[in-house]
Amino acid sequence: MNTIIKNIDCLVTCRGSHKKVKEQMMDAGIIENGYIVVKENLIKHVGCGEGYKNFLEQDSLIIDGRGKTVTPGLIDSHTHVVYSGSRENELSLKLKGANYIDILKAGGGILSTVKKTREASFEKLLLETRRRLDLMLLHGTTTVESKSGYGLNFEDEIKSLKVNKELNKIHPIDIVSTYMGAHAVPEEYKDCRTEYIDFIIHKVIPYISENSMAEFIDCFCEEGVFSIEESRQILRAGINNGLKVKLHADEIKPIGGAELAAELNAVSAEHLVGASEQGMKALAEKGVVAVLLPATSFYLMLNKFAKARLMIDSGVPVALATDCNPGTSPTESLQTLMTFACFGMKLLPEEIINAMTINAACAINREEEIGSIEVGKKADIAMFNSINLDYLVYHFGTNAIHTVIKNGRVVVGNGILAEGCAF
Ligand code: NIG
Ligand code: FE
Repeated sequence: MNTIIKNIDCLVTCRGSHKKVKEQMMDAGIIENGYIVVKENLIKHVGCGEGYKNFLEQDSLIIDGRGKTVTPGLIDSHTHVVYSGSRENELSLKLKGANYIDILKAGGGILSTVKKTREASFEKLLLETRRRLDLMLLHGTTTVESKSGYGLNFEDEIKSLKVNKELNKIHPIDIVSTYMGAHAVPEEYKDCRTEYIDFIIHKVIPYISENSMAEFIDCFCEEGVFSIEESRQILRAGINNGLKVKLHADEIKPIGGAELAAELNAVSAEHLVGASEQGMKALAEKGVVAVLLPATSFYLMLNKFAKARLMIDSGVPVALATDCNPGTSPTESLQTLMTFACFGMKLLPEEIINAMTINAACAINREEEIGSIEVGKKADIAMFNSINLDYLVYHFGTNAIHTVIKNGRVVVGNGILAEGCAF
């Protein structure tokens, strides 16, 4: 049996299996009145008009694409989705003038989520994370990068990475795991931070690598968190143990994080609100993907966004992600990100969709398998109640998803989780 999506008003293929830069970001590979033929878990044919009729089988599942925009399944290439609890209390503190790093230094922020995540059993953590993944799927996301970093000690970091592993098995969403023990210095190491760094380097990283618990390593390189030199040390240890590099770089202050990402040939540099022009140039030269997180700028009330336009014009491949976390971006919806990318960063709909599909695939080294609607790629497809791509970005604040296909299987139909996908 095959699945045919026919008469799609706006089929946004995002074709190409490479990092899109500069004007390539405006090429979303749009086909009007398009069709897609899916067989098993793969895309078998893509075309327009009546051509789909050649592939009709007796028991084909036919989905009507009239009035719809169809895109590759969205890819959330930067999240901290494994955590317990929530931090709504910080909202009032922020409104009264407290800033993010002050809250963290006073034992709140990341450290308060660390406390709750440590207290949570594996089962509880799995359940809370699974609910967030369900929401992501319901909003059109089919692949998620997921960082640890709310356990910090050995046991609870491994617990978090095991949650990733288990959910990757049982949830329709594919999960790409990142170890981020260098998210904050835990309270028990407050007065001996170098010991914490030694522990990461000598104990956790080798274990993770030997047991294939993560594919990437990340580090919060920021004034008041981990310095450039500390980050370099940690990330180099990761590289020596076969992990690929991502980096929280210049999220708030420009301390040379982008330059460090380029120096280490990172796969991606993330946040970059404070990135220097030199840093951006270095990213462009090395082809490091800039993963930008405009919901976080909005939520931190920074009154400034990463310079996405400048980055695109300077040849940096740009991706967009939610940063889903309990402190600076409590959202699961990449559709919400479309709004921030457009109104905060002045990105165009074509650039936005490429940044959430093919360039996001590049940010997690998956561009050969996902990120575009092309023959031979995985059948990960999102269908929106939207007459064209512009409309998808223009109309905001509601969930436009109609159908989601993951690995060739309908996992969301008519806006709700399909049978067998609802937990
Ligand atoms: O990406 N920057 C560090 N980590 C997250 C925030 C985590 C939190 O506040 O819990 C971020 O913004
Ligand atoms: Fe983050």
